[in-house]
Amino acid sequence: MAATTTRSRAASTTLLLLLCAAALLASGATAADDNGFTTFKLYFHDIVAGTSSPTAVRIAQAASSNTSSTSFGAVVAIDDPLTTGPTSASGTEIGRAQGTYTFADQKTFGLLMVMNFVFTGGEHNGSTLSIVGRNEVLSDVREMSIVGGSGKFRMARGYVQAHTIDSGATSGETVVQYTVNVKA
Ligand SMILES: *[C@@H]1O[C@H](CO)[C@@H](O)[C@H](O)[C@H]1NC(C)=O
Ligand SMILES: *[C@@H]1O[C@H](CO)[C@@H](O)[C@H](O)[C@H]1NC(C)=O
Repeated sequence: MAATTTRSRAASTTLLLLLCAAALLASGATAADDNGFTTFKLYFHDIVAGTSSPTAVRIAQAASSNTSSTSFGAVVAIDDPLTTGPTSASGTEIGRAQGTYTFADQKTFGLLMVMNFVFTGGEHNGSTLSIVGRNEVLSDVREMSIVGGSGKFRMARGYVQAHTIDSGATSGETVVQYTVNVKA
């Protein structure tokens, strides 16, 4: 009798969990996995100075940066759109990546990224994520740290993985897919 009760309690708990999961999926919300990580993708658009409305501008450099093969010493300020899809047609803007990147490596294109993802739409509207890390731009996947956040991301920890979709060599607009893995 006691065993039956325990079993039926377990069964109703399972049912409840399944119903909650179904409700989350139905609402389009991103659910946390077993380890508490929420994962989502967004697209970062770095539009360099020289185009009609740049979102990335060089704000400082060393006298030697122009002759460095890796632009070592240059610092760029960004206010880059973050969208749900890789092109303007396939996505809507849900925030901005604001901060700086420094050309910090004399041997390869290795950037030090210091930026906030500022969400202005979608599920995370009103919250921010603070990201710091090394971005070796010619590598397929670059991992950077989420060191904090605000709003629903207060006390956040985690990591992002950046993967270039379009280098921007012809368009002047670099598109990078960011997979965000965050625990808050
Ligand atoms: C570096 O190159 C840019 C663009 O060609 C030029 O405007 C700038 O004056 C140069 N800076 C130095 C320190 O030579
Ligand atoms: C984001 O939140 C702000 C503040 O609550 C609100 O004014 C704005 O309409 C929201 N934007 C979207 C796209 O949901």
